[in-house]
Amino acid sequence: MKPLNIGGLKVELPIIQGGMGVCVSLSGLASAVANEGGIGVISAVGIGMKVPGYRKNFRESNKIALRKEIRKAREKTAGVIGVNIMLAVTDFEDLLHISIEEKVDIVFVGAGLFLKLPEGIENSQTKFVPKVSSARAAKLIFKYWSEKYDRVPDAIVVEGPLCGGHVAFKKEDVLLPQNSLIKIVKETVKEIEAFEYQYNIEIPVIAGGGVYTGKDIYEVMEAGAKGVKMGTRFVTTNECDVSEKFKLNYIKSTKNDITLIDSPVGLPGRVITNDFVKDIQNGKTKPVNCPWKCLKTCDYKKVPFCIAEALFNAAEGNFDNGFSFAGTNAYLAEKIISVEETFNQIMREYYAEKKYIDLRNNKLNRKEYANKMQ
Ligand SMILES: Cc1cc2nc3c(=O)[nH]c(=O)nc-3n(C[C@H](O)[C@H](O)[C@H](O)COP(=O)(O)O)c2cc1C
Repeated sequence: MKPLNIGGLKVELPIIQGGMGVCVSLSGLASAVANEGGIGVISAVGIGMKVPGYRKNFRESNKIALRKEIRKAREKTAGVIGVNIMLAVTDFEDLLHISIEEKVDIVFVGAGLFLKLPEGIENSQTKFVPKVSSARAAKLIFKYWSEKYDRVPDAIVVEGPLCGGHVAFKKEDVLLPQNSLIKIVKETVKEIEAFEYQYNIEIPVIAGGGVYTGKDIYEVMEAGAKGVKMGTRFVTTNECDVSEKFKLNYIKSTKNDITLIDSPVGLPGRVITNDFVKDIQNGKTKPVNCPWKCLKTCDYKKVPFCIAEALFNAAEGNFDNGFSFAGTNAYLAEKIISVEETFNQIMREYYAEKKYIDLRNNKLNRKEYANKMQ
């Protein structure tokens, strides 16, 4: 696996831990991943929900909590730390400015097309990386930034339909071959090449969504990705900042438990089913008491449940009033292990796959292969 170069920022291993809200990836998980040589990412969405008085002043609470988590992560690691901010949240700009003030290495922006760059970020050293789900969307952003700001993003995350959390595809399109991650990675790499040439820089394409094993990493890298973004795999680690019940919910889950719901964000959300999920799928509503309106797209007077509350409750281990987001591969988790052991496993899986493919391509037996590698 080659190191990753994002706008001059060197990352030892091309593994990016996906930002996971609400309160799933905070300083604990992010610093552990950064210590292993990957990029650790704090999710800013709903990050202040544990702060007393959140309901009265969600903006201030989010700002306080984000600053605190970035500082805590910095105390625990000298590695690369990022923040994930959803464009769909009403305090997007606040969270972006805090991240820049705290000099995080990278900001990942998803849940919307990150076209307009807010004022005041021109001179920051922070790298900006949008998340898209198609080559078309990537091109739109790159073209817009190039024409308007004479710059382009430092990298791009392309996320396929098998990811945990919000899915940028219609439910019925999730399994269509034209939407496979491998296919959209190839298309995006092609689209970005023109901008790499124009600006004479390297712009890594990072693939996410259903990337769980080292074998998955090998496959998306063969398709042209320079890095991977993995969320689900890191949930069942000791260092993940969520309750043990949340982690055990992954371990207990089966393939059939992982399902899509309609999220008030306006997109499908992938979750592990439970009674709460079945209720909303059957048209029942849950009391919504929204004093803050955290999402630009949420019509809180009409939505059947509050997504922020449901995710926060689950993060705290309260599954009577919530559910967990999870990727299609969440059921593969067998036990809770350390982030270090997770990296070791991923490496073993990756190199086993690489060796297998090399053997197959070269028609070598294992002894011949070993000799060749010496
Ligand atoms: C529990 C969970 C919470 C997530 N929360 C967010 C979020 O708040 N914002 C966001 O942009 N993506 C979120 N994601 C998506 C991840 O950042 C990442 O892109 C995704 O997990 C990659 O797919 P994978 O889960 O198959 O590895 C979440 C994913 C999970 C599993």
